[in-house]
Amino acid sequence: MNVLGIEGTAWNLSIAVVNENEVITVAQEAYIPKEGGIHPREASQHHAEKMPSLIKAIFDRFPKEKIDAIAFSQGPGLGPCLRVTATASRLLALKLKKPLIGVNHCLAHVEVGRWKTNAKNPVALYVSGGNSQVIARRGNRYRVFGETLDIGIGNAIDKLARSFGLQHPGGPKIEKLAEGGRRYYPLPYVVKGMDFSFSGMVTAAQKLKESARIEDIAFSFQETAFAMLTEVTERALAYLGYDEVLLVGGVGVNKRLQKMLGDMCEDRGAKLYYPPSELMGDNGAMIAYTGLLMLKHGYTTPIEESFVKPNFRIEEVEIRW
Ligand code: ATP
Ligand code: FE2
Repeated sequence: MNVLGIEGTAWNLSIAVVNENEVITVAQEAYIPKEGGIHPREASQHHAEKMPSLIKAIFDRFPKEKIDAIAFSQGPGLGPCLRVTATASRLLALKLKKPLIGVNHCLAHVEVGRWKTNAKNPVALYVSGGNSQVIARRGNRYRVFGETLDIGIGNAIDKLARSFGLQHPGGPKIEKLAEGGRRYYPLPYVVKGMDFSFSGMVTAAQKLKESARIEDIAFSFQETAFAMLTEVTERALAYLGYDEVLLVGGVGVNKRLQKMLGDMCEDRGAKLYYPPSELMGDNGAMIAYTGLLMLKHGYTTPIEESFVKPNFRIEEVEIRW
């Protein structure tokens, strides 16, 4: 089976074709704001503009007759971006006379991670711009064991970076700066039960700007935020008695976060997995692959049920595999 998947919930418009074994082809274009953070309407205009040429690029490389289904990111995400993606996907499905499959974006991050790492039943730490969740499967659902009470860790890092005058996305720049950190400044460490919060930390870190080196601020921010995420992941592991951790989402490429989780896993006799970086952030292959899994297990989305779901939660999807 070959499934075409379109991801377009936020900054990356990415189209891919996959089969059971591999990613066959990918075409993508990232939206990078000129200043400030992601502007939903501008991002959706970017996606609308790039959609035709990306679809054409895919069909130049892969025969459309061999596509068995069209999968798309149905949510969660930015409304205007979701609508562009859904409209293009419906059109393609109707034109090729193939089933349409609405995919939960968070589930796709987790499933592509499992596919590419062979992790069986992990506690997943899903960390991106808009989301930060600790997820694990119980029975036929993924459950969220802990999550951010305000903004995602990626957005928090991006905000801090912007206040240093750095262009979006800030994650890689803060990671680089943090490598030059020598002094740790305490920042609010907020873990409540299994949930965590980052917005107070951003404000506190921004206030340090007058007195501290930015390398030290970046370092202190990463150490504090990643320790919070590691703590909650460890508690979920202990509670569930699982011995695998799967790191996914755009922030997951961060080497310091990988090291902290890796050390925690080693101490507990657990194993840390993460997929290759091109499959960590938003990408069409994760949507295509999850669509393929769903298709194999009898899911399709009738056009009249293909409306976008900006607040779509992973728990809403019944897992049949
Ligand atoms: P979602 O819809 O799942 O919330 P997203 O739109 O935020 O996804 P992702 O590609 O999953 O997209 O993640 C993007 C985030 O990852 C940005 O906030 C970016 O700054 C962050 N990021 C990228 N590289 C790094 C890095 N090296 N260290 C920390 N954060 C990073
Ligand atoms: Fe994402």
